[in-house]
Amino acid sequence: MMSKPEIRNVQQDEITPWLRAMRTTLLVNPAAGGGQSLPWWQQVWNPERTFGGYVEGRCVATLRTFPTTMTIPSGTAEHAELPIDALTQVTVAGTHRRQGLLTGMLTRSLQDAKDRGEVASLLKAAEWQIYGRFGYWPAVMGANYRILSVRRPQIRPPETAHQLIGIELDQLPGPASDVHRRARRRRAGQIDRAAVDWQRRLGLNGLRPPGAHEPVCVVARNAEGRVDGYAMWRANDGDWFLHPEDQAQATVDEVLAATDDAYRALWHYLLNLDLVRVLQLNGYAVDEPLEWLLSDGRAAQRTWVGDNEWLRLLDVPAALSARRYASTDRLVLEVVDRDGGWAAGRFTLDGGPTHAECRATPAATADLRLSQRALAGIYLGGVTVAAQQLAGLVDEETPGAAARLESMFWTAQQPWNATPF
Ligand SMILES: CC(C)(COP(=O)(O)OP(=O)(O)OC[C@H]1O[C@@H](n2cnc3c(N)ncnc32)[C@H](O)[C@@H]1OP(=O)(O)O)[C@@H](O)C(=O)NCCC(=O)NCCS
Repeated sequence: MMSKPEIRNVQQDEITPWLRAMRTTLLVNPAAGGGQSLPWWQQVWNPERTFGGYVEGRCVATLRTFPTTMTIPSGTAEHAELPIDALTQVTVAGTHRRQGLLTGMLTRSLQDAKDRGEVASLLKAAEWQIYGRFGYWPAVMGANYRILSVRRPQIRPPETAHQLIGIELDQLPGPASDVHRRARRRRAGQIDRAAVDWQRRLGLNGLRPPGAHEPVCVVARNAEGRVDGYAMWRANDGDWFLHPEDQAQATVDEVLAATDDAYRALWHYLLNLDLVRVLQLNGYAVDEPLEWLLSDGRAAQRTWVGDNEWLRLLDVPAALSARRYASTDRLVLEVVDRDGGWAAGRFTLDGGPTHAECRATPAATADLRLSQRALAGIYLGGVTVAAQQLAGLVDEETPGAAARLESMFWTAQQPWNATPF
């Protein structure tokens, strides 16, 4: 007789088999890190936010969330932020696929997030087809770049008041977390990094995956000595001395700057690294401004653009009241949520550049009927209303209402999240 999987929360003393199950399905060495990473996992473990699927005592499915805050458009240099639920490490073993384990775990997890009062849930999808049925929709796009530094493009304007200096990796968390705290408020879509995250992100205390290069760390200090930005990069493998044609590629793990001047100073440094001909950047903003700063903009080539993060709204009034809008208007939105129902309702949005209020108004006449998926897509300014209308996810009840919604949700910058999770 076939045993029915049990879905339940996962306790501290069950971490190791849960990690093995998760890593196996995500094609990572199940024994990665040996036991060294266990103390770190014990620090971040939250049984209420961690789910497992179990068959005869064996873990066959995993899912975890963590609370964070996400920067949202507010029309000022310092954007506002929203408390959200970030979903990660979703796996179901090949032996137990398509038996409803993901559906069981995620439905419970979303209901819990709603009950906790989290306004939205964010994830990075392995495949397009998985998460739409749970109401997630692409909201943050991403791009990979190949920068031909061999062409020695120069940065404009070249003057900088910043001094660059290399520091050891274990000295980076202090200045980097301060830069990240300031830099992430400059662009919608950025999520916060908890203090404990820096350990794993930088591969400190035995948390670096085996074989991974230690990055070179450089900080940009302003005239007062304050660190305004940092870069982390590492040379790719290859014998550049014997094979000059391979000479030499580097991956830029991160360039984060809290000021424009620090941004320019760091790129000036990266573009002028001796021996390096090509820089690779993965998961950057689709409108990364670098090419406009270069004397030869074509040295920055976009090699991939695609959906990077998917958003699911759980509380429409809270999400829309927290944001600010490019134009002042008042629209009644009928939000249809066929993917769980958590965000459904009729809401009046009254908003502009300096104020916004959104409340449930069940008796009002709707100007627009739109899917929660479409609203999640346009929320951060990364997806257009026009495209969602074309896809049948937005219907006008009042002529011209879609164009009015478009101009309200317009943002000067595309959203971007520098923090993969
Ligand atoms: C994606 C994954 C978690 C799905 O788990 P699962 O338990 O098989 O999903 P469910 O049984 O709950 O499936 C629910 C529905 O989604 C569909 N679905 C799930 N994954 C899908 C995929 N990759 N492509 C297309 N449809 C998919 C199922 O067919 C099912 O549809 P149905 O109800 O119409 O039959 C699992 O296949 C997996 O672990 N894949 C590898 C790791 C991965 O990609 N993880 C996601 C990281 S973001």
